[in-house]
Amino acid sequence: MRTVITGGAGFLGARLATRLLAAADTADDPVDARRVVVADRPGAALPPALAGGHLDHVEVDLTASPEEVEELVAGADAVVHLASVVSADAEADPERAWQVNVEASRSLLAACARRAAGCRVLVASSVAVFAGSHLASGDETKPRPRSTYGMTKTILELLVNEATRRGAIDGRIARLPTVTVRPGKPNLAASSFASGVFREPLAGVDCVVPVADDVTLVLIGAHTAVAGIDALLRVPAAKLGPDRGVNLPGLCVTVEQMIAACRAVGARRGVRLGSIAVRPDAAIEAIVASWPARWDARQALALGLPADASLESIVERYLDDQVLVDR
Ligand SMILES: NC(=O)c1ccc[n+]([C@@H]2O[C@H](COP(=O)([O-])OP(=O)(O)OC[C@H]3O[C@@H](n4cnc5c(N)ncnc54)[C@H](O)[C@@H]3O)[C@@H](O)[C@H]2O)c1
Repeated sequence: MRTVITGGAGFLGARLATRLLAAADTADDPVDARRVVVADRPGAALPPALAGGHLDHVEVDLTASPEEVEELVAGADAVVHLASVVSADAEADPERAWQVNVEASRSLLAACARRAAGCRVLVASSVAVFAGSHLASGDETKPRPRSTYGMTKTILELLVNEATRRGAIDGRIARLPTVTVRPGKPNLAASSFASGVFREPLAGVDCVVPVADDVTLVLIGAHTAVAGIDALLRVPAAKLGPDRGVNLPGLCVTVEQMIAACRAVGARRGVRLGSIAVRPDAAIEAIVASWPARWDARQALALGLPADASLESIVERYLDDQVLVDR
């Protein structure tokens, strides 16, 4: 078995590679004894935890070299396509968002059809395909993106469904809520604060939240997101309909609840927290307000995909991971 992960050096890609490698090391089932190919832009550093094992590392810019993309996916059993320009970055540079999220994705799907016909291809989509609404956004909700990022992800979803309908690939679309807690530095996602609000205070660093405390987000823990992607990849095609989009389970929480969870976990762990100031930024608020505040993941739950028990459990898990990394 050969599984290719694009964007494999990124936040979710590296975690998925680690998970698949761990399964491969202990595999009784040949399906799990897979080679994992981590593909990312030239120069993108792989986390040290990914060194060795069954891992292959391929440096490729998906927008630059169609021949290298063909080679990358040739003979793959599964391709997990996570490489993407993310939300605030896409808003700032719509042309690059189009090149990476649409054009390069289309080439990748075509390469899969030619060199790995019928293989499982899972792509990451986002809450941003839906418009902000007080109605819960579910798998039957019409996509009405109100951001460049959401528009490109909507097109990606259509491309995957079309390639699946034609029998070129066996597509799956993991529609992810905002994933937290992302370690390291803030990134160019408009939702970056949804990790910063936990990560910074718990590290004793002051943090500014750029949206009002009554704003609601749909969140998923990093472990649950990666486990959900892995589980969706394994679902038999017969259990999925012609529309391959699946909302991964998320928690609908206000910024106020996020701050409260951070304080509760910090108190339990005896952490001296950095301060948390709420200072709304109109540009970030506008992007976040265009995302759904209510979420329907019934299909994912029926398929047996995992869900987080609580916000505090997500934060506890993040702190446990940090202890392991620090050792
Ligand atoms: N993290 C979240 O909160 C979240 C929420 C919804 C959807 N998603 C989606 O999940 C996927 C993974 O997200 P992430 O948080 O791991 O992102 P990330 O930014 O950490 O990783 C993306 C990776 O893609 C790589 N990449 C970008 N352009 C490339 C190119 N042209 N060629 C090769 N590699 C390229 C980057 O170098 C990076 O390592 C993305 O598709 C994202 O849109 C993430």
